Amino acid sequence: MFIVTSAHMQRIAQYVRSYLARTVELYGKPHAEPRAQHRWMHTLNVLKNIRAILESENSPQDVRWVCEAAALFHDIDHYTVDLPYHGVKGAETATRYLKQEGFDPEFIKRVACAVHDHYQDWTDERPTDEQVREVLANCGPETLMLIDAETLDKIGVSNIMLMIRSLYQKSDKTTADISHELTAGWVLQRARSWYDTLLTSAGKKMGAQRLTFCENFMNQLVEEMVLEDPYPLPSKQTQEMMKLPEQSQTK
Ligand SMILES: [Fe+2]
Ligand SMILES: [Fe+2]
Repeated sequence: MFIVTSAHMQRIAQYVRSYLARTVELYGKPHAEPRAQHRWMHTLNVLKNIRAILESENSPQDVRWVCEAAALFHDIDHYTVDLPYHGVKGAETATRYLKQEGFDPEFIKRVACAVHDHYQDWTDERPTDEQVREVLANCGPETLMLIDAETLDKIGVSNIMLMIRSLYQKSDKTTADISHELTAGWVLQRARSWYDTLLTSAGKKMGAQRLTFCENFMNQLVEEMVLEDPYPLPSKQTQEMMKLPEQSQTK
């Protein structure tokens, strides 16, 4: 049986964080620094989610260590390869680092396995429940918890915050425009689609609570805010037409 201390976790976290910062620069991604920072905060959310799942599932200590390390490593190669391969490459990077640091081979194997399989290529072409059954049949419990921890970051408050942030980046958007966009239906629809892919009972319970929050948030938004201006400014053409009689009087 292996032992993983909080000092080990601290070192892994520092390694992942600096790897993300380095590779985002190296691979020439635009807005490198905020991107790396965003990926790191997502990683921390996934870590937080997996801890809640582990707690709810009453998981033994070895499973907790594997899952927490896998959560830290899961997106380490987000910038170095195309998205469908980042799990495979991430597993290689995690294995290399953990071997160098002298971690137990069984721990390394289990972390790498979860990182390797955490990316699932969900498609709209096939029924979601069919794909869920396949993932359940092909992945071990540690991988399933990691997949759910990641999915949960796409449902709930963090998802809404991300949407608001990206909509505000389009600088001409007003609060009413953003509220309109948020309540147009697609944000909630996306959260519901992600909810349908959840795999563990703890993940589903957390997902249901987050989805209810999203639905309540959207309802409250519609309830509280004016999304359509009842007195819109007339168009330029109408304004011109309105000016005409006045102008003709002055002649
Ligand atoms: Fe992720
Ligand atoms: Fe990922």
